[in-house]
Amino acid sequence: MTEPVISVKNIKKNFGKKTVLDGLQFEVAKGSIFALLGENGAGKTTMVRILSTLIQADSGVATIGGYDTNRESASVKKLISLTGQYAAVDELLTGEENLLMMGRLNHLDRQTVKKRTAELLEQFDLKEAAKKRAQSYSGGMRRRLDIAISLIANPQVIFLDEPTTGLDPRSRKNMWNMIQRLAESGVTIFLTTQYLEEADQLADKIAVISRGKIVEEGTATELKRLVGEEKIEFTFADLPSCQKALDLLGGQIDVNEMSITITTESSPENIRQLLNMLYESSIHPASFIFRKPTLDDVFMEITSDHKKGAVVNG
Ligand SMILES: Nc1ncnc2c1ncn2[C@@H]1O[C@H](COP(=O)(O)OP(=O)(O)OP(=O)(O)O)[C@@H](O)[C@H]1O
Ligand SMILES: [Mg+2]
Repeated sequence: MTEPVISVKNIKKNFGKKTVLDGLQFEVAKGSIFALLGENGAGKTTMVRILSTLIQADSGVATIGGYDTNRESASVKKLISLTGQYAAVDELLTGEENLLMMGRLNHLDRQTVKKRTAELLEQFDLKEAAKKRAQSYSGGMRRRLDIAISLIANPQVIFLDEPTTGLDPRSRKNMWNMIQRLAESGVTIFLTTQYLEEADQLADKIAVISRGKIVEEGTATELKRLVGEEKIEFTFADLPSCQKALDLLGGQIDVNEMSITITTESSPENIRQLLNMLYESSIHPASFIFRKPTLDDVFMEITSDHKKGAVVNG
């Protein structure tokens, strides 16, 4: 990796007696999308708040653009923006007024504020609603305004804490497109999410946090590889056929579903061979599907492994 824009080394944070972060360690490359994935209460927001200088870690070092979030917070603040679970939108102001106000709060000159506001209203599809009060906005519009506000001062790193929680599927897709465009413009994006599909779609790198530690880290593909290859699942109309298929092909039987599952590559040649073997023995499957491992499989597997105390590399 070229010089990472975010670097986190052995960050620990307790709230009272409760250990929330127990030695977190990761790096984020410039211009990439990084997703921190974890269940409710896993410590995602806590990590974001440390990185964005809102709270301090008990120990460890976190830097952004080389600046220490603890000792050089003023420099860090100039590089970042924060949005998501801490909505910055003022309900009583219009979308445009919200942007203008935040521009001035960021000490941008009048001319620049006007220009950036116009650009952001355009970019976030809020031009028509610009003169309406934010309280009349839909959830998706409000979320877009929130992100637009956070971008007014051209940050290099943007924190999106659960940017699509509570959005309908269409608004979620729109938000994903926007996040992708932001990353293409060179901004580094630090995303937290509970949605595996979101991390799968967007993130260049995913880190899974569980019980205060990073339990796995990698691309979506790398993480999926952890839970094995593709699987084909044959379903039968009756149990004897199912049993015969199992004797012939091996794999795992599910008596209730009357299905067998075999781990194999989804090549046409593989399917042809398997079907030939079945038909030559007069076994007729009712249906078959290919199943790729999903991030859900990964998440379930690594977080449950962790509970048994097996994996830890954080
Ligand atoms: N200021 C605080 N004082 C005491 N406990 C806190 C504080 N902030 C967070 N916690 C606790 O730390 C843990 C992690 O919280 P955090 O908000 O970081 O989780 P999260 O991963 O963002 O969860 P969610 O997905 O629900 O947003 C939780 O158990 C929470 O109750
Ligand atoms: Mg949170």
